[in-house]
Amino acid sequence: MRLDVVTIFPEYLEPLNVSLVGKARARGQLDVRVHDLRAWTHDKHHTVDDTPYGGGPGMVMKPEPWGEALDEIVASGGPEAQPPVLVVPTPSGRPFTQELAVELSLAPWLVFTPARYEGIDRRVIEDYGDRFDVREVSIGDYVLAGGEAPVLVMVEAIARLLPGVLGNAESHRDDSFAPGVMADLLEGPVYTKPPEWRGHEIPEVLVSGHHGRIARWRRDQALARTAANRPDLIERADPEAWDKHDRAA
Ligand code: ADE
Repeated sequence: MRLDVVTIFPEYLEPLNVSLVGKARARGQLDVRVHDLRAWTHDKHHTVDDTPYGGGPGMVMKPEPWGEALDEIVASGGPEAQPPVLVVPTPSGRPFTQELAVELSLAPWLVFTPARYEGIDRRVIEDYGDRFDVREVSIGDYVLAGGEAPVLVMVEAIARLLPGVLGNAESHRDDSFAPGVMADLLEGPVYTKPPEWRGHEIPEVLVSGHHGRIARWRRDQALARTAANRPDLIERADPEAWDKHDRAA
């Protein structure tokens, strides 16, 4: 998969060299290219923003540098001779969910446009929206100072879904929010050795060797945690899927 990121803070994306994403890059599973938007400015001060039409606080990112940057990146031609999906992080976008992460992980090429200030001149989104698949995406109901942190969040969620990136292919099966048997439930607690730590013991069922009881216990724990932390998820859950899960275990 190829990922391009256009930003005025290329250094903000340095964590993409670390850990899971960094290793995927080193193995050639991810081709990540970070670009400095100011490379597509032509004035002495490398201006990327201007005052908003209609007034109001803050500044708006000018359309010309974005247009030139995206034209050049798109023209460079991506993998599989397919156009990129443009991902525009904005608090006004659609929520970023595990479902969207799965969908984006299937695209061969993503171009991210993290903005600063009050956002990018709307005409950039309209112009590319006419020719490309453009997704305006929010990572949550809060406002950050820019889209770079959301890009890091999205890239990590997407990269771990790519074939061969996670060590153990099973390890996203029971993730919170993963589609499948435990869909709509948060993951329950996990334990490792030693069997007793600071007087706290591990739940006895986990050493019972009884797979059915363990599956049932995990499901109950997941339910309790979901009810406590995300009651909204219980509403849309499918109890029949849990029962099938228990019978299969
Ligand atoms: N830019 C600023 N806040 C954001 C958010 N919550 N999601 C995506 N992009 C953003």
